[in-house]
Amino acid sequence: MRHLLSAADLDLAEVTSILDVAEDMHQVQSRPVKKLPALRGRTIVNIFFEDSTRTRTSFEIAGKWLSADTVNVSAKGSSVSKGESLRDTMLTLDAMGVDCFVIRHSSSGAAAQVASWVKARVVNAGDGQHEHPTQALLDAYSMRQHFRAQAPVTAGPEQGSTEFAGKRIAIVGDLLHSRVVRSNVLLQRTLGSEVVLVAPPTLLPTGIETWGCEVTGDLDAVLPSCDIVMMLRVQRERMAGGYFPTAREYTERFGLTEERLAAMKPGAGICHPGPMNRGVEISSAAADAANSLVLDQVAAGVAVRMSVLYHLLGSDEGADQ
Ligand code: CP
Repeated sequence: MRHLLSAADLDLAEVTSILDVAEDMHQVQSRPVKKLPALRGRTIVNIFFEDSTRTRTSFEIAGKWLSADTVNVSAKGSSVSKGESLRDTMLTLDAMGVDCFVIRHSSSGAAAQVASWVKARVVNAGDGQHEHPTQALLDAYSMRQHFRAQAPVTAGPEQGSTEFAGKRIAIVGDLLHSRVVRSNVLLQRTLGSEVVLVAPPTLLPTGIETWGCEVTGDLDAVLPSCDIVMMLRVQRERMAGGYFPTAREYTERFGLTEERLAAMKPGAGICHPGPMNRGVEISSAAADAANSLVLDQVAAGVAVRMSVLYHLLGSDEGADQ
């Protein structure tokens, strides 16, 4: 794997390898000395043109724990604010000998465009409304841990299958503006789960009927049959018009309220990529419930990003390119 731009870049063997190595990386998190020498001498630039708490911090921690040199660049404070183009900015940084760029940008396709310009490897940390592949990987990691805790396996899944086979995953909310849903649908297809998408008609992306998922506006009908319920943030900053009458009405129809929490399948897990709008798409009762995986997802973010960086930069082949 040269870059990670889309969840569709990964076949089942690659996804499994990333999740398995992330399990080893997860051990580092509980050690007093959180350092592995794997990426010593490598330089990773995290360049974020959009705000982030989880992704930027976890990529920085991941790089540091693997002993890489990590540098953070944001549009504010760089020469981008003086009008330098994305291409000139990336070529300038690339000329400094960077090994890997982790990039977030508001334009769909920006990471792929950057990958076509630079010599360094590129990880898409979110491009507009397009994709966020490491989010889908960390979601899958958290779900896999949850499935294993629910039904400890004595033998692994059959050859060519995964713990996700036969599982039903609901992704609920603002699908229109979500890069997380696109990456999750692609990754879950590879892993073999069944994804059901739940949203009001105004928040359905064009062409969703080609995604190969069940689509519904009736959250109450699907809730009791799902093994994972992933709530998406209502992205008000990307909404120019009125996509629903009021936040209260949205919550009534699409929020994971305390009442809906009680209607979930026993043992089902709750995911949210964050940041959460408590009281809008998710109640505090659900966000903080015993079956909420929200903080597991955050912890998994570091381990999975360590694994992704290791897969991109950790081999001799990577060192030569
Ligand atoms: N889930 C996610 O991408 O969060 P941040 O915007 O805080 O990175």
